[in-house]
Amino acid sequence: MEQTTHTQQLINTAKAMVRDFKGLVAIDESVATLNKRFEKAGIPQTEEYRRAYREVLTTTPGIGDEINGAILFDETVHQQTADGIPFLEVLNKAGIIPGIKLDEGTEDLAGFPGEKVTRGLDDLADRLKGYADLGLKFAKWRAVILIDGALPTTACIVSNTHALARYAAACQRAGIVPIVEPEVIMDGNHTIERCAEVTESVLRSLFEQLYLLKVELGGLILKPNMILPGAAHAQKSDPETVAKFTVSCLRNAVPATVAGIAFLSGGQDAVTASKNLNAINLNYKTELPWPVTFSFSRALHQPALEIWKGKAENVKAAQDSFLQLAKANTAARRGEFKI
Ligand code: G3H
Repeated sequence: MEQTTHTQQLINTAKAMVRDFKGLVAIDESVATLNKRFEKAGIPQTEEYRRAYREVLTTTPGIGDEINGAILFDETVHQQTADGIPFLEVLNKAGIIPGIKLDEGTEDLAGFPGEKVTRGLDDLADRLKGYADLGLKFAKWRAVILIDGALPTTACIVSNTHALARYAAACQRAGIVPIVEPEVIMDGNHTIERCAEVTESVLRSLFEQLYLLKVELGGLILKPNMILPGAAHAQKSDPETVAKFTVSCLRNAVPATVAGIAFLSGGQDAVTASKNLNAINLNYKTELPWPVTFSFSRALHQPALEIWKGKAENVKAAQDSFLQLAKANTAARRGEFKI
């Protein structure tokens, strides 16, 4: 069937986000989240330092050879480098597609203690139009699902997947590719089997909602968690086990027409995240119907932040670290990562 120009543009953008064995970088931490990371690293928590940090990352020489797209926070979209070049221009020059975080964080899900739902749907159409006019090509929305005893409830899963689908439909209407991020978080002492069970039901619910709201899957990127035991669980899983559970879960629940899968790192350290991504791509090369890549924040640039420490003399070393981790993950995407 011939695609309309609008749909074809979405498909082209989504394909460009996962092409050439490259990945995505999330530099979309909210003010509160980035300030918390700055505080731990002894960096002043001001707008100027947040701007300077985003400059360190976006001006890293050679980063466009590893990264197809960068997810930005609203503050960064309106900022410039110290030399007065808008960050959107810096990214476009480096061949990096700019995207925007559209969710507005989480709030308690009324009637379901301990569970959250993501905010931001109310004025979404207006915000989308504004960002599309500025030249942003894709967006991200994160839902948070906690595993704890009998949680998550079906109410929590459906509330969040329905919101993700409404966001995705609104994005596509505005000509923006949605990244849908239903994050089953790593906190807790659950087993890897429980993570697989919960993630699979979240993904099944998500694709049901996306179908209901007529979202074009070829113009959408899924940003899931890898299947891991809880961070407090006694038994750690090796990359082969993580890859086996993750691929099985995704193959069971994600239609082959989805344009790409780009994992979040979720609190894994950089080397572990790369090893797991590598095992997925190496061991299941012929069984993955979608490009499978990375869309990390912490596992790509937390070490850079700790090296930088807010000091001009550390910029080069911080950029080297960021570039090195980006290269490690493009290698992992090819199944060629070695430490
Ligand atoms: O929403 C979270 C980010 O997009 C991914 O962050 O890789 O640190 O989990 P992370």
